[in-house]
Amino acid sequence: AKPATIAQHLLAWYDDNHRELPWRTAPRDLAAGVRPDPYRVWLSEIMLQQTTVEAVKPYFRAFLEKWPTVEALANAENEEVMKAWAGLGYYSRARNLKACANAVAQAGGSFPDTESGLRALPGIGPYTAAAIAAIAFDQPAAVMDGNVERVMTRLYMIDTPLPEAKAEIRSLLETLVPQKRPGDFAQAMMDLGATICTPRRPRCMLCPLRDDCQVLGQADPEFYPVRAPK
Ligand code: ADE
Repeated sequence: AKPATIAQHLLAWYDDNHRELPWRTAPRDLAAGVRPDPYRVWLSEIMLQQTTVEAVKPYFRAFLEKWPTVEALANAENEEVMKAWAGLGYYSRARNLKACANAVAQAGGSFPDTESGLRALPGIGPYTAAAIAAIAFDQPAAVMDGNVERVMTRLYMIDTPLPEAKAEIRSLLETLVPQKRPGDFAQAMMDLGATICTPRRPRCMLCPLRDDCQVLGQADPEFYPVRAPK
C-alpha cells in the first residue's frame, strides 16, 4: 500500500487500541482541540529513556503532583528533585532534567517548538527532540526508537543488519510520517511495537499493518531486525 494508506491503517488502529498513559492526550481529546502540555510530554520522554512504561507511571504522577509546571520544577531544590528521582536510575538524567527546567523557565517558561530548538536544551538528544516536536507540537518528525526499528524492518523486510540499517529505516519512516496527527502516528508506532509487533511471538493476526507487511507470509518475523554478528 501507499505510505498514506499505511499511516491511515495505523492511526485507525490507534484510535481504538491506544494505551491510556498518564502523560498522553487521547486521540478523541486531540480531535476536540485539546493541546498536549509540552512539560508533561518532555517529563515523560526523559523518564522513559531507559525505563519501562510501568516503572515510570508512579514517578510521573509524583513529579506532576509536586511540580505541576516547568517553573515549579525550576524553583525546586536540586536535592528534592534527586530524592524524587531515586529508584529510576541513570541519575545524569535527573541532573539534566533540572538543568533543562531551569533553562526553559529562564527563557520565559515555554519549550521550543522545533527539533533544533529542543536539541539545544540539556538532556534532549535527537530521539527526545523528535518525540517532543511530534507529540507536543504536531511537527512531522521521524521518531525512531527500538520498537519503531523493529516494526519498520518487518514492514519493509529490511535485511541490512542493525545498526547499519538505521539510515534506511529513517528514510522509509520519513515517507510514512503523516502531515496530520504526527504525534499520534509516533505513539501508535510505539504501541504497535510494544503490544503487537513484539520481539518474540508477535501477534500478526491482530496487526493493522498485516496486509502491508513484507515479512508476514515470507519469513519468520522473529528474525527481524537482523543484527550484525558480534
Ligand atoms: N516510550 C517512549 N515514549 C513513549 C510514549 N510517548 N508512549 C509510550 N511509550 C513510550
